Amino acid sequence: MNTGAFREQLLAVMEQKRHWAWSHFTSGRVPRERLHLHFEQEYATYVRDFPVMVGWAYVQCPVAAVRRDLAENLYEEETGGVIAGRPHPELFLEYPRGLGMDLARFDAIELLPAARRFRDVLDEHTQRRGWAQACAVTTIFLEGTEHERGELDPEAPRRPAPPLEQHPLVVHYNLPLEALALTKAHRRVEGSHREAAWRIVLDHIAERDRDGVVAAMQQTLEVWRAYRDEVASVCGLVRSA
Ligand SMILES: [Fe+2]
Repeated sequence: MNTGAFREQLLAVMEQKRHWAWSHFTSGRVPRERLHLHFEQEYATYVRDFPVMVGWAYVQCPVAAVRRDLAENLYEEETGGVIAGRPHPELFLEYPRGLGMDLARFDAIELLPAARRFRDVLDEHTQRRGWAQACAVTTIFLEGTEHERGELDPEAPRRPAPPLEQHPLVVHYNLPLEALALTKAHRRVEGSHREAAWRIVLDHIAERDRDGVVAAMQQTLEVWRAYRDEVASVCGLVRSA
């Protein structure tokens, strides 16, 4: 597969990383007392261990230039030492803290069945399928959005970044602005992480590994979607016809 086709196939996966229930989450339709389920499952499927997942890509990678980008990403995620000032998984917990949730819950999260499956697929691709798949699944799929094309193509729509005062958690659930520390940090660091992620996959993943990477991305998308269906359901959301 040539680089152009590879890029299109990866973008096609990312453009499907959108879920019917998201508009319910962002318009306040999830009852406040169920919102913790969303945060807990996100935390335990990938947020808490994201730096370690990037670490798996790092240790398997023989390309020094790629390792440098991964090391920088890992360092920021694990420590916040470049931008955020604190580890990103810790900053994530500011959302539930700011919403008055019991943080003790986050020490003993039980994954729901589809969440477990999503996590198992992440572990498989990050730990046992080589650096290219580990890298794509973490830095493109998990860190990326449905707006990836806008990171690569100046003509394509950019990832929206509305003022923090308009953040759905602030508007619909009275989250204090200070609790959006992770959102703020991500806005500052995201441009360079997106750029590095695409540089790594397009310039360094060998042709022979590309089919496997696309398949890994498609499988991750599939289990992610089932996982988000499950979270929507436990949050009491029903898909309208
Ligand atoms: Fe992060």
